[in-house]
Amino acid sequence: MAAATTDGEEPGAGPTGRVGGAGSFASSRRVILAGALALAALTGAALWSTFATRPEPSIPTHGRVVRLLTMERPFPDGGRYPGDPFIGPEACRDCHPAETALHWRSGHARTLSSAAWRKLARQVDHTTVADPERPEVSWEYRFADDRLYVGRRTPSKLEELVAEYAFGSGQHAVTFVNVENAETPRILEHRMTYYARTRSFGLSPGHDAVPRPPGLTPLGGYPPPSDAWSCFACHSTQVSTGPGLRIDEDRLIPNVSCERCHGPARAHVEAAARNAPTDALKLPFGPGRGYTAEQVIGQCGMCHRHPGKPGVGPLDPENPHLARFQPVGVLQSRCYRESGGGFSCVTCHDPHDRTSRDRPAYNATCVSCHEAGSPQAGSASASTSTSAPAHDRPRSAHGLPCPVEPTGDCVACHMPPVDAGQGVLFADHWIRVRRRPDASARQAPGRQ
Ligand code: HEC
Ligand code: HEC
Ligand code: HEC
Ligand code: HEC
Ligand code: HEC
Ligand code: HEC
Ligand code: HEC
Repeated sequence: MAAATTDGEEPGAGPTGRVGGAGSFASSRRVILAGALALAALTGAALWSTFATRPEPSIPTHGRVVRLLTMERPFPDGGRYPGDPFIGPEACRDCHPAETALHWRSGHARTLSSAAWRKLARQVDHTTVADPERPEVSWEYRFADDRLYVGRRTPSKLEELVAEYAFGSGQHAVTFVNVENAETPRILEHRMTYYARTRSFGLSPGHDAVPRPPGLTPLGGYPPPSDAWSCFACHSTQVSTGPGLRIDEDRLIPNVSCERCHGPARAHVEAAARNAPTDALKLPFGPGRGYTAEQVIGQCGMCHRHPGKPGVGPLDPENPHLARFQPVGVLQSRCYRESGGGFSCVTCHDPHDRTSRDRPAYNATCVSCHEAGSPQAGSASASTSTSAPAHDRPRSAHGLPCPVEPTGDCVACHMPPVDAGQGVLFADHWIRVRRRPDASARQAPGRQ
């Protein structure tokens, strides 16, 4: 196979756990979709009919019929259907160039697409890999007719299917998914996942689990319907507008776009275009609304997991799986618990950007609270709003300086990368004095 690079820029850790139930999503979904639901009734002379009526070339794939995916189509000016409250991420560029530029280079903007759209689809053309568990089986990838074919060859036969969706930006990993029934929904999560770190295919996370979870087949796994739906919900802005767990290609807005976090923004853009007063520009989620740190963490935790999510496991600092669920760790950290509401994801991350690798900047954030001579926890003015940009925020309770290295590489000792399974490293967000300071932290790949 050609030295394939991924769509993402940086090789790094690997795939995520695939847990999550529909229950917690249902509530977040209701908020975001309330407007959409009210207006969905108007759907009649549909503008998106140009797409809906496009002939769908069907190709036989051993009994399965695959249609060309349409979710990447641009948003028409008037919306994809009458009353569409979404306007699409392209609409923000002119007025918010800074956030837009950062967003488009982040994994949020490229975490779900048609498989054939990926550079990866061409890069893996003519790749053959042995099945990691069954040497008599090989996996063959070929790119033809603008489609990525995935073949499973045994000594007696070749089963081939067309990969439909690609999950993951490619920064860490890409997993292909086929939707076999969009209504129930029934999806096939391919058995093999492409890992950036090894630049090759390996088993998808959990597919080597013992005992075998139900739904695993030689081609891949069939998660229960609510998990299948959540899979799309965490990787997109909208999955569908009706009730139920339908995966609706006509309404699906792939990727974690601006409107996933800020809410549908068509009215905002129209108001801004006619110079309406600032009050008319309010979005469902925006800075300066008095969101607490807990609420911001909760918003990120809808997808990055929070302690209430199924599959998170025991809240034990020695549970390595927690490392991939950053909000869980943050909520356990004394930095969060004892800083009077001044500590959330946006204290260290720009939510628009890809993960910064600027270690000195992270350490400077630590020291801003843990500097020598700073007042002790609880004595500074407590902030209730973390939604203001970090520099505008009132200073919250400070911590003590480090007795070991008061100006050292804080992250290396207190947030080291942890193997969260399958050799995948995640910065441990449960900030604490560790029982065994992890020496390997200093040499973790790709981190300075
Ligand atoms: C509860 C929300 C949630 C669900 C459900 C979910 N994901 Fe993800 N997924 C994430 C988040 C958050 C990340 C990025 C951080 C990480 O890696 O944990 C991610 C990352 C990924 C990646 C990239 C690898 C990586 O670690 O960055 C792939 C591939 C992926 N998910 C596939 C899937 C598939 C396939 C399903 C369904 C079977 C699924 N995910 C279900 C939230 C979710
Ligand atoms: C025609 C120009 C224009 C376009 C297009 C536009 N915005 Fe805005 N946006 C504004 C203005 C003006 C403000 C108010 C700025 C201020 O209050 O300082 C604003 C404020 C915001 C805010 C903060 C407001 C709040 O609710 O707290 C967010 C978030 C935002 N825009 C997101 C978006 C997103 C997402 C898009 C694309 C879907 C978008 N904007 C498109 C002009 C625009
Ligand atoms: C709708 C689900 C969802 C929400 C909400 C969400 N994320 Fe993510 N996030 C993801 C997924 C999926 C990925 C994996 C992207 C990829 O495939 O590389 C991700 C990746 C990331 C990354 C790594 C991006 C990169 O390119 O290096 C950071 C950092 C991040 N999220 C922070 C946040 C923060 C902070 C919030 C809250 C303000 C948040 N996320 C809210 C789903 C979500
Ligand atoms: C105190 C600072 C700090 C806070 C607060 C923080 N992070 Fe991080 N985060 C980091 C550091 C440091 C890294 C590792 C960066 C690197 O790899 O160089 C990181 C990495 C990440 C990654 C990338 C995972 C990977 O290894 O690719 C995601 C996703 C992420 N954080 C999400 C979150 C979310 C969601 C929150 C809020 C619950 C949060 N972070 C809060 C410091 C922080
Ligand atoms: C993962 C969630 C997420 C996504 C995706 C996202 N934002 Fe934001 N955005 C936030 C959060 C959280 C804040 C508040 C940041 C803070 O308090 O420091 C914010 C703040 C803003 C602001 C106000 C900035 C300021 O300094 O007042 C604007 C404007 C904005 N976002 C526009 C956008 C646009 C445009 C996009 C898409 C290109 C986008 N956002 C995508 C979470 C997100
Ligand atoms: C918003 C302020 C704030 C920021 C930013 C912050 N902390 Fe803290 N941190 C605190 C407070 C308050 C405490 C509790 C008092 C104390 O022990 O100092 C604390 C506690 C700690 C502890 C002791 C935990 C324990 O289990 O006893 C460590 C270690 C720590 N922080 C490291 C860090 C590191 C490393 C960073 C940067 C990655 C960081 N902090 C960023 C406020 C903060
Ligand atoms: C070489 C590893 C290392 C580095 C680098 C390091 N620490 Fe520590 N830190 C420790 C250890 C070990 C302890 C526990 C010391 C003890 O209990 O005697 C500790 C304790 C702490 C505490 C608890 C203080 C208390 O008295 O409760 C805080 C807060 C802290 N560190 C913050 C930081 C910050 C901020 C940085 C970066 C400027 C940093 N550390 C850099 C290893 C380190």
